[in-house]
Amino acid sequence: MKTITRKEFIEQVGVGAAVLFVAACAGSCQKTSSSPSGPTNVNFTVDVSTGALATNGGYLIQSGVIVARTTSGSFVAVSATCTHSGGTLGYNSSSNIFQCPLHGATFNTSGVVTGGPAPTNLQAYKTTLSGNSLHVYS
Ligand code: FES
Repeated sequence: MKTITRKEFIEQVGVGAAVLFVAACAGSCQKTSSSPSGPTNVNFTVDVSTGALATNGGYLIQSGVIVARTTSGSFVAVSATCTHSGGTLGYNSSSNIFQCPLHGATFNTSGVVTGGPAPTNLQAYKTTLSGNSLHVYS
């Protein structure tokens, strides 16, 4: 039996632990998955001439969907429920992102995770503006 020094032992165990961590992480540590989550069969209309959506940077939540009017005046809609632990998202107009107040997850206006612990993207919804009527739908 070969005797190894303390330094050699630590080096070998350290390399082994790193290999195990990488192997374990390869299958489960990805930040996002390919299937976003959120309400299905979304179909509602919002009057954007009054209320939060009358102003650029405003947002509201309806039927589990957060609808925001960006600072450039376009409308975006994604699931309002954070994919981490179910926090209700807000819209940060200065950064043009959706944010979770619970643990800080962030999503872009397409619902893609851009930071924090959220494991999956948000479901994004279509929007069509006709006059002052904004149609939000799956
Ligand atoms: S519930 Fe949203 S980051 Fe944890």
